[in-house]
Amino acid sequence: RTVYVNGDFRPENEATISIFDRGFLFADAVYEVTTVLEGKLVDFYGHMARLRKSLSELQISLSLSEANLLDIHRKLVSKNNITEGLVYLQVSRGPADRDFVISEDAETPGVVLFTQEKKLVDNALAQRGQKILTVEDQRWRRCDIKTVQLLYSSLVKTEAHRKGADDVWMVLDGEVTEGSSNNAYILTEDNTIVTRALSNDILHGITRQAVLQCARELQLKVEERSFTVDEVKAAKEAFSTSATGLVNPVVEIDSDVIGKGTPGEVALRLREVYLKASL
Ligand code: PDD
Repeated sequence: RTVYVNGDFRPENEATISIFDRGFLFADAVYEVTTVLEGKLVDFYGHMARLRKSLSELQISLSLSEANLLDIHRKLVSKNNITEGLVYLQVSRGPADRDFVISEDAETPGVVLFTQEKKLVDNALAQRGQKILTVEDQRWRRCDIKTVQLLYSSLVKTEAHRKGADDVWMVLDGEVTEGSSNNAYILTEDNTIVTRALSNDILHGITRQAVLQCARELQLKVEERSFTVDEVKAAKEAFSTSATGLVNPVVEIDSDVIGKGTPGEVALRLREVYLKASL
């Protein structure tokens, strides 16, 4: 694989960064994952807008322009012949002598990009529907910033896999925030799509924005509000959205079957419509 590191395209085994990089030592870094479908980037500008927001929250200044970043994304997709998969982009504050206090001196952000070929459209999990376990949301309360501080989510998702489930939904004060790496939705008995409102408690999903737009175009009712685990259990359908998961049906939560226990009609329809809109 060819990867990008700080200005250069290199074979992955020749790409290196400093052990003093604050991304490595303090998780002082942000990232984006952009989906590739039929060789094309999906919602690239949405992801770059969120990258700018994450960078500005951490006061990391990146000199690369959107046009530069687009060029690097496209080159990597082409060099690695990616037709379906993703481009991962990470920007860290860069290397500095290890200190909790972030130096005032301008450091040079570390920029790393790589690709992953992945089957996203014909996906077995989407066809069968996900089994979810709920866990307490113990993440820091700035989940709107897409940092690489992902250990809690990684640990609880791994634990869920060990127990035979596919993912976790996080619960804060009795209400669902989001999945380990996706936004969470239910469809109520009266056919309303419910998903938590935007706040610092969730990542402002780029797919969320696009899928809610699709839902409104389909004249489906949408409510942006918090919901409880009991509401999920009583829901007609449930699903999650993310760049790589697209729209992903949920059929079980904490061993309780949701609806008929098979991927919901509305979730599958949204998946189809979102895919069509993204190509
Ligand atoms: N995750 N919530 C969290 C915590 C996420 O990590 C993600 C994305 C989302 C969905 O956002 P979007 O629709 O913009 O992908 C919600 C990416 C895919 C990842 O970490 O791999």
